[in-house]
Amino acid sequence: MKLKLPAESDFPADGRPVEQLDFLINWGVLAPSSHNSQPWLFIRHDNHVAIHADRTRALPVVDPHDRELSISCGCALMYMRVAAAHFNVPVKVYRNPEDGSDLLANLYFDEDAPPQQALSELFEYLPRRVTNRFPYVEGSVSDEQMAALAEVCATHRVTLRAYHDDTSRHALADRIAEADVQQMASKTYRRELASWLHHNRSRSRDGMPGFTQGMNEFASLAAPIAIRTFDVGEGQAARDRELAEHSPALCIIGTNKDHHTDWVRTGEALAQLLLVATREGLSASFLNQPIEIDRLRADLAKHVGVRFPQILLRLGKPTREARHTPRRPASEVTVDAGEHEEYQVFQGF
Ligand SMILES: Cc1cc2nc3c(=O)[nH]c(=O)nc-3n(C[C@H](O)[C@H](O)[C@H](O)COP(=O)(O)O)c2cc1C
Repeated sequence: MKLKLPAESDFPADGRPVEQLDFLINWGVLAPSSHNSQPWLFIRHDNHVAIHADRTRALPVVDPHDRELSISCGCALMYMRVAAAHFNVPVKVYRNPEDGSDLLANLYFDEDAPPQQALSELFEYLPRRVTNRFPYVEGSVSDEQMAALAEVCATHRVTLRAYHDDTSRHALADRIAEADVQQMASKTYRRELASWLHHNRSRSRDGMPGFTQGMNEFASLAAPIAIRTFDVGEGQAARDRELAEHSPALCIIGTNKDHHTDWVRTGEALAQLLLVATREGLSASFLNQPIEIDRLRADLAKHVGVRFPQILLRLGKPTREARHTPRRPASEVTVDAGEHEEYQVFQGF
């Protein structure tokens, strides 16, 4: 899929703050999100853009508390911050501490905000980063690269744990495989997953085409039906075990608390980490399954010594290139503040 982006020369350098912030949303929508659900709504105000959770796109079975949904919106926020740094739009972030509110964060135009050189340098990687679910080359992550990723997490006050040795990878692989078997045994889990898996030539602008899982056209047609109908947990567990045990690095991002703001911050850290990894020629894919089951999350927390594990990633140099997934354009996920208010009154909120 070709990602459609406006020409950089179209940036309204002499425009009002709202016009400049609006332009950045074109890059915000490129962010990764669970099942490519793109669960965000951007609301344009005079001097800020509000990033709202679009809970109509929630995944109630795999993510009942909208934790991953909020992390996904945090990723979109970081993508906008990187674009802001590149176009020299001075911005300040407000993260809403009110748990349960749809408003997750505001990105304010603020003349006094300092330039963000480190973020600006990541701009070229926004359209290049892609989740790569193919195997990675053993030993392809250096200590220097891991140190750069740990530094990113430290700036966001989230913890990064990284594992390369056989014993640790084996212990994590066990937990991932156990979670696969448990999740796939649930018909509602399989139904939810299948509803976001699409045919390779689908025109849908969200969800995951079969090619993201290495499927050819026929397999991509059959997979949603097969997943809805059969418990394929053992096969999934065997594949994920193999990937995890041979991952050059398995990484866990964790936080000390588990509120909305922690999820949004995790998303910002995750997005920046993925962009730095892309700069380093590394790819990532997600093995979050044990974090998505309460009992296994608690067990993992104890095992790795972080209070709240949020994301489990595998990192390395990929053996094959991965293709981009589709996106809904900025125009479809952005509304003016007035329009949004009218909609809420109409809905009786
Ligand atoms: C919070 C979050 C959780 C995710 N969880 C998983 C996961 O458990 N398994 C997986 O294969 N991909 C996972 N992904 C990756 C998404 O499926 C991927 O970002 C999305 O399909 C868009 O594709 P892209 O990353 O290539 O742009 C996750 C992404 C985010 C942001």
